[in-house]
Amino acid sequence: MEKKFNFAKQIVLNAASYIKEHLNDQLQIETKSSPTDLVTQMDKEVQDNLVTWILEAYPADHILAEENGLRHSISDGNVWVIDPIDGTNNFVAQKADFAVVLAYFENGIGQFGVIYDVIGDKLYHGGGQFDVYCNEQKLPPYQDRPLNQFLIASNAGIFERNDWGIADLAKETLGVRVYGSAAISFSKVLSGQLLTYISYICPWDYAAASIIGESLGYQIVTLTGDPVDFQTRQQIMMVPTDKLAEIQSYIYERK
Ligand code: IPD
Ligand code: CA
Ligand code: CA
Repeated sequence: MEKKFNFAKQIVLNAASYIKEHLNDQLQIETKSSPTDLVTQMDKEVQDNLVTWILEAYPADHILAEENGLRHSISDGNVWVIDPIDGTNNFVAQKADFAVVLAYFENGIGQFGVIYDVIGDKLYHGGGQFDVYCNEQKLPPYQDRPLNQFLIASNAGIFERNDWGIADLAKETLGVRVYGSAAISFSKVLSGQLLTYISYICPWDYAAASIIGESLGYQIVTLTGDPVDFQTRQQIMMVPTDKLAEIQSYIYERK
């Protein structure tokens, strides 16, 4: 597994180098499900590169990825989960605060995850049998503090509408941050900078964070506290297991 893990980190860094080399290219921007759901040629090229490299090295493995309808179930065999650029809108508008994200499962069991904040140059990696690091720095497990000493992050719409009481929860904390990238938000939870990240996202957005987070005392669950399905878009939160009950006490189903 170590060879595969090292391979995963290397191809994520290679993908990021490709993005940086092409950072000032003219972008071909298309919309998908809504005017703010964007995809560029870079998302597609980076995904194509990652898929090619993985299948050249591991031809029997499978892919679940955001673009081009690659939708293999994580429960079936050796499966790589790819988000080529998480935070495409940040990429388009800011050329910063976006990440390349890769996760690897064997018959539904997460083996490792890799999240690379490309411009911040922070590689979060580990989970399964591997310790969790940000670059060369080993990350400690979740360290408990009272709610009022934490920041939280969420999707802007969920906070604005107070969906599920999330704005009420936020009032008990130091405040809310909205980063525009699930992976960047998760990386801040992993490094202890945020208590939780709450959003409405897809398996490729949360797969790597779920594997890495498990090793540090976190879990990703739906807002009803159920396991995520790794198939559909769901309302989810990444929370420290120690704080799950307290956070859930603020969450209610919108009438
Ligand atoms: C999006 C980002 C964003 C989240 C969206 C995701 P993408 O991913 O993570 O923060 O709010 O729901 O789709 O499209 O940039 O890969
Ligand atoms: Ca994404
Ligand atoms: Ca993406």
